[in-house]
Amino acid sequence: MADLSGKVALVTGASGDIGGGVARKLAAANARVAVTYVGARDAAQKTVDDIAAAGGQGLMIQLDQRDPLAIEACMETVAAEMGRLDILVNNAAWNIGIPFPDLDALTPEIWDRVLETNLRAPFLLARAAAKLLKADGGGHIVNISSAGGISPGSSSIAYSSSKAGLNHLTRCLAVAMAPEVAVNCVAPGLVEDTRMASRLPDAVAEGARRQAVLGRVGQVEDIAGQILSFVTSTSISGQTLVVDGGMPGAMR
Ligand SMILES: NC(=O)c1ccc[n+]([C@@H]2O[C@H](COP(=O)([O-])OP(=O)(O)OC[C@H]3O[C@@H](n4cnc5c(N)ncnc54)[C@H](OP(=O)(O)O)[C@@H]3O)[C@@H](O)[C@H]2O)c1
Repeated sequence: MADLSGKVALVTGASGDIGGGVARKLAAANARVAVTYVGARDAAQKTVDDIAAAGGQGLMIQLDQRDPLAIEACMETVAAEMGRLDILVNNAAWNIGIPFPDLDALTPEIWDRVLETNLRAPFLLARAAAKLLKADGGGHIVNISSAGGISPGSSSIAYSSSKAGLNHLTRCLAVAMAPEVAVNCVAPGLVEDTRMASRLPDAVAEGARRQAVLGRVGQVEDIAGQILSFVTSTSISGQTLVVDGGMPGAMR
C-alpha cells in the first residue's frame, strides 16, 4: 500500500468529480491534502469533510485560476497552513460544448477562458509551486489532460487544443523542473459517473464505451489510482498516460 505520510498535496478542482476522488485517494494514502474550488464551496467542503471523517487532514482554498495573482496567493496559503508541498495535481478545467464544425461559435472570449483555465493556469501553478516542490527533492506534478488532447475530439476545438498543450507542457516542465520534480500527466477518456461525461451527447458516450477494447471506459478510481502510481514512482517523468479502457485511436 502506497504511503504518503508526511507529504502534502494540492489538488485543484477538488469540488469536481475527479478532483474530489483524487484528493480522497491521496488522503487515504496518508497525505495531507489542500483542495481548491472556484464556486462549488459545498462540494469542496464535502471533500474535506470526507477526508477528515477518514482520519485525514484537508484544507479548502477558493481559487479562480484564471487570475495569476490568486494563484500566487493560493500557494502562499499552502505554505503558511501546510508548511510544505510535495505533490501538485493540476486537475481543474473548464469546458463548454461547441461542435467542431461550428467555427463561428468558438469566440475569442471562449477560447481565452478555456486556454487560461486549462493550460496557462497549470503552468502558473507549477511556477508558483516550484520552490516548495523542490525544497526536499522528490516533488511531483501530475497534470490531468484528456484523450481529446491526443486525437481531435471532445467538447470543443479550444478544449482539445488546451489539453494537447497540457500534454506538451508536461514534457517541457519535466525538463525544466528536473531533477527535483517529476512531471507526468493522466489523459482520461470518458470517465463514467461524472458530470462532464453526462454533458456528452449519448451517441458520443456510447461510441466511447463500444470502442474500449477492455469493454469498459475509465472510472474516477482508475484516474486516482494512476495518479497515486505516478506520485510514488521515482523513475518516471515527462509521460502522458491515457486511461480510457483502451481506445484504438489513442494507442500511440
Ligand atoms: N469527466 C470526464 O469524462 C473527463 C474526461 C477527460 C478529461 N477530464 C478532465 O479531468 C479533470 C476533472 O474533470 P471533472 O470531470 O472532475 O470535471 P468537473 O466535475 O466539472 O470539475 C471541474 C473542476 O474545475 C474547477 N474549475 C473550473 N473552472 C475553474 C477556474 N476558473 N478556476 C479554478 N477552478 C476551476 C471546478 O470548480 P467548481 O466546482 O468550484 O466550479 C471543478 O472543481 C479536468 O481536467 C477534465 O478536463 C474529464
